[in-house]
Amino acid sequence: CGIVGFIGKEQAAPILLDGLSRLEYRGYDSAGLAVYDAEKGLQVVKAKGRLQVLRDLTREGQEVPGLMGVGHTRWATHGAPNDVNSHPQVSQSGRMAVVHNGIIENYAKLKKFLESKGVQFVSETDTEVVAQLLDYYYKGDLLDAVSKVLHRIQGAYALGIVCADEPDKLVAVRKDSPLILGLGQGFTMLASDVTALIRYTREVCYLDDGEMAVLTPDGVKVYNALVQPVEKETSHVDWEISAAEKGGYEHFMFKEIMEQPKAIRDTISPRLRDGKVVLDDVTITKEDLEDLDRLYVIACGSSYHVGMAAKYILERLLRIPVEVTLASEFRYCAPIVTKHTLALVISQSGETIDTLAAMREAKRLGARILSIVNVVGSTIARESDDVLYTWAGPEIAVATTKAYSTQLAVIYLLGLYFADRLGRVTAEEYSRLVEELRTLPAKAEAILKDTEKIQYYASIYFNHNSVFYIGRNIDYAVGLEGSLKLKEISYIHSEAYAAGELKHGTISLIEDGTLVVALAGWNELFEKLMSNVKEVKARGADVIGIACENHKEALESLVDSAMTIPEVDPMFLPSLEVIPMQLFAYYVALMRGCDIDKPRNLAKSVTVE
Ligand code: G6P
Repeated sequence: CGIVGFIGKEQAAPILLDGLSRLEYRGYDSAGLAVYDAEKGLQVVKAKGRLQVLRDLTREGQEVPGLMGVGHTRWATHGAPNDVNSHPQVSQSGRMAVVHNGIIENYAKLKKFLESKGVQFVSETDTEVVAQLLDYYYKGDLLDAVSKVLHRIQGAYALGIVCADEPDKLVAVRKDSPLILGLGQGFTMLASDVTALIRYTREVCYLDDGEMAVLTPDGVKVYNALVQPVEKETSHVDWEISAAEKGGYEHFMFKEIMEQPKAIRDTISPRLRDGKVVLDDVTITKEDLEDLDRLYVIACGSSYHVGMAAKYILERLLRIPVEVTLASEFRYCAPIVTKHTLALVISQSGETIDTLAAMREAKRLGARILSIVNVVGSTIARESDDVLYTWAGPEIAVATTKAYSTQLAVIYLLGLYFADRLGRVTAEEYSRLVEELRTLPAKAEAILKDTEKIQYYASIYFNHNSVFYIGRNIDYAVGLEGSLKLKEISYIHSEAYAAGELKHGTISLIEDGTLVVALAGWNELFEKLMSNVKEVKARGADVIGIACENHKEALESLVDSAMTIPEVDPMFLPSLEVIPMQLFAYYVALMRGCDIDKPRNLAKSVTVE
């Protein structure tokens, strides 16, 4: 979900709608806003469906005058996506309006309690409980009511609160769900994501867990849970506004695919000096490194796939065991963590709740935390011992591309840096790999110059309904990401398999016309992979093959559709191989008429467990 709030001297609704349009990628089941006006009182408009429905309903906000309000775009958790369950949720008296990101875990109990007091509920949401509870505790002091509610609710939340009896302020609170305050000239804002603020102000303040903020046109005051004032620092956000806009491209996803060479370059260049990797922001000492007993990679979704590639890369370079764990499983797998364990936490948003929870658990068990994060100031970044930022800029398409690529770039940097410090690579090998890393953006650029062939292949295969991605070792890790890209945005069922494992079961699913994407970038394993290609072709599969240029002829003779990439050391393969995979998924989805930037049921960052 996404939330936004504004209080100032201008009409709030158009600003809220604009903010919501920047947040829509975080959920688009429904949208709504609540705006207060001295004459009209508290006006609430909300509707199932995309933000455009709300825009039309309010005539771009003109129907809801007022200088303060909150807005919401929803990714449904409690209650189906319909008008009633949309936010804002309003209390029975109509006094309180609340927008909420997250989950109130004990809402059922609180609902029962309120019902026993005669409160009537209209929605199935946990959020309505907050609005009703606020009203129940309200005795003329909003902050006091908010603090009482905070002591009763459990779970994760970021809340934006409007009270019709105190229209001179907005209240914001957070726990385990992102919330940022924006400070402008004569106005203040709140938002779950910085992209909703940067058109208006670049001065921001990050709320910490358990804090409450009172926003007025003149500024913000922040309090802890005991309503004691807290001093906060403000930060300046550097992101370009244009980076969060489409800039002439039809889709954000395509724009972001095209931005990858630049994003990789931005991520690695400042950290390469005189042929060496320099990571000034990492405080781990040589002794700490020597003592490491294992590395845990913790992440979700595509970030997890970076982790899968990282296992091969880091184990090769460091000879330290690397365990890759899905963040949502980490807490339940009895992880073997000691004070010599390093947890590598990978997250584009820095707010994924599963990842955050796993990270906290790793920390509790004694691990040191090094995170790889794209959003500066995000919760994961702030709670880590060390952070390496990916300089991808804002990523808007739900299906990640440039964030994935820059996370990989950081893994290369980290692997080389640690290997060098540990003395586990020869000087010659190190220089060769650093040099290859430096030229990686140019190689990515070369692949992006020729999108026509991939577009053509997409036109041949877009009607297939079952696709298998096969590869070995690091090629398999890329297959996982290629497969995810395809299913996320085109809704074609697909699976990634370790190529050698196919014959142990899944090959039974291969029949005439099944599409198999064979990743054979690792030169050493090319022949082995081609044996697997022959196995599936013998069962009727159509095969798209991808390999390095030196295998072009062999590949073309064996597969139906061949794609090649420039030769690289196998450790850098994911960065190049993933590009045709992304483009293939993109064009297939385009030809199937899918909503590429906002695939059904998905959200960009998931801040609920
Ligand atoms: C969501 C997105 C995925 C993403 C995952 C992890 O599920 O839809 O594309 O990979 O979250 O996100 P993070 O921000 O932690 O990298």
